[in-house]
Amino acid sequence: MKRRIRILVLSLAALMLVIQLVPYGRHHSNPASRVEPKWDKPATRALARRACFDCHSNETVWPWYSHVAPVSWLVLHDVEDGRHSMNFSEWDKPQDDADHAAKMVNRGKMPLKKYLLLHPDARLSNAERDSLEMEWGRLQLEQSYWSSHAFVERVANAKLRMNLPQTHDVRIVRP
Ligand code: HEC
Repeated sequence: MKRRIRILVLSLAALMLVIQLVPYGRHHSNPASRVEPKWDKPATRALARRACFDCHSNETVWPWYSHVAPVSWLVLHDVEDGRHSMNFSEWDKPQDDADHAAKMVNRGKMPLKKYLLLHPDARLSNAERDSLEMEWGRLQLEQSYWSSHAFVERVANAKLRMNLPQTHDVRIVRP
């Protein structure tokens, strides 16, 4: 019996060592932060930072266990998916899913439950949820601005060097 337990423990240890060789999960990137939302006050940013930034920004804090497989796989997957859904560090891009944020927080779906197990400080009180919710309304307006005309114009300007002509450069041609 003792021998069986020893073999089991050794096999598990060997398995843990072998899975560390899987390349996925080791690359922890924090790309430069570009543009953040125009937060109404520093306290709102602090709330989002506490509860959301690890998965929804380029300022992820990578704890030691995020370097150890299989936890590293789960963490990286959440950060990749989270940043893809909404990234507070790239507010100069349209964030199509951002308008679900109030709903997700209110229903207790965000922050993810498994995350709260290891980050109890990310838990939001009702008052904190309310204050984030009020902020979402405003941020949504900002986002609809980005996804509209002005955004297209900015991108055309930056990427294609297209400029809106000045009034004195415009000639009206009539048939
Ligand atoms: C542990 C990582 C993690 C944390 C922390 C986290 N999220 Fe997420 N979030 C995800 C992942 C992964 C997804 C994409 C998969 C999904 O929708 O479940 C996501 C998706 C979202 C979406 C898009 C949902 C949809 O279906 O359109 C919103 C909005 C969102 N999160 C808001 C938040 C807010 C607000 C916070 C902070 C209060 C937060 N999240 C905290 C990981 C996280």
